[in-house]
Amino acid sequence: LVPPLLDAQGRTMTYLRLSVTDRCNFRCTYCSPASWGGKKDLLAPDEFERIVSVFARMGIRRVRLTGGEPLIRPDILEVARRIAAVPGVEWLAITTNASHLERLAVPLREAGVTQLNISLDTLSEDTFRRISKQGDFGSILRGIDAAVGAGYASLKLNAVVMSGMNDAEVGDIIAYAHARGITPRFIELMPFGQGTPVPTAQLVERLQASGLPLVPDEEPQGAAAGPAQYWRAPGGRVGFISPLTQNFCGGCNRVRVASNGDLRSCLGGRAQAPLHTLIRGGATDAELALAIRRALGEKPDGHRFTEPGAGASLLSMMGIGG
Ligand code: GTP
Ligand code: 5AD
Ligand code: SF4
Repeated sequence: LVPPLLDAQGRTMTYLRLSVTDRCNFRCTYCSPASWGGKKDLLAPDEFERIVSVFARMGIRRVRLTGGEPLIRPDILEVARRIAAVPGVEWLAITTNASHLERLAVPLREAGVTQLNISLDTLSEDTFRRISKQGDFGSILRGIDAAVGAGYASLKLNAVVMSGMNDAEVGDIIAYAHARGITPRFIELMPFGQGTPVPTAQLVERLQASGLPLVPDEEPQGAAAGPAQYWRAPGGRVGFISPLTQNFCGGCNRVRVASNGDLRSCLGGRAQAPLHTLIRGGATDAELALAIRRALGEKPDGHRFTEPGAGASLLSMMGIGG
């Protein structure tokens, strides 16, 4: 029997985030440096399948595809199909900006994707233009509607909250999501780009003051849960992801592979095992597993996002995938 994948602090890794491309058809100010060009040496579908198989044998059960924007890969359906078929993978999710979902929501579901998290920071086209330098706002709304009709086990909406940008819209975003059976989630901005974060406690207070009865949701999230904390509102659940004010690193269950194939044991950490290079150099599965275990043995206890100047040492979110 293969032992579980433990990190340096004894946390068990069950959740793998794979960035399948660092390209994106939007340019959100909080995510990408203006000059980001995108790189070509991405992993191929059979390489993803191989990496996921090695991880699954060590206990990874949940896989999430991220980007960049994962759905701009022309072979995204093949990538999804191969990963969904790997023994041990119980759940395959994608985080997407929804711009390609009008066409892909149903085929992705058929390829084995079980859940979607959709990034939508604003319901206003003007505000969208301020946040994203590129992109078609209408395609997002059409993509969301296509996802709602496609039969996913779970749909969540992610909004990164920025002071003076979209923080006045939080109540409207909740109503928009709940009207479609989607769980809205509000994320404290991490220092990868521009913008000013809003602490979760402040948002919750403002929502309650506006008359929305929010109470903490006590339902247990399970061992492979993400970092969101959930509350209950009359229309459904509302999630908050608070890396700055309610550090969740102690319960971390995740490991990531960036779009260039480098394993990163922590979102706020450095690149570690170059899995793509190892595969191309002919590494065996046992050698890949050893490189992965070694890297997890150096996983930091948590991020340092709240330290002064933390952003300066971080790479673009686009290649890591959040
Ligand atoms: P679920 O598994 O559906 O709960 O999704 P998730 O929240 O893990 O993933 P998603 O891609 O939707 O990311 C939502 C936000 O959480 C993004 O801002 C991510 O950067 C952030 N996030 C996800 N995982 C981590 C993590 O391990 N550490 C930190 N600091 N942020 C994370
Ligand atoms: N802080 C918090 N979340 C971010 N995301 C992108 N950049 C940041 C940031 N600086 C979110 C996206 C997407 C998810 C993968 O990460 O909005 O929903
Ligand atoms: Fe885990 Fe690092 Fe995210 Fe903290 S910041 S939850 S340690 S990946």
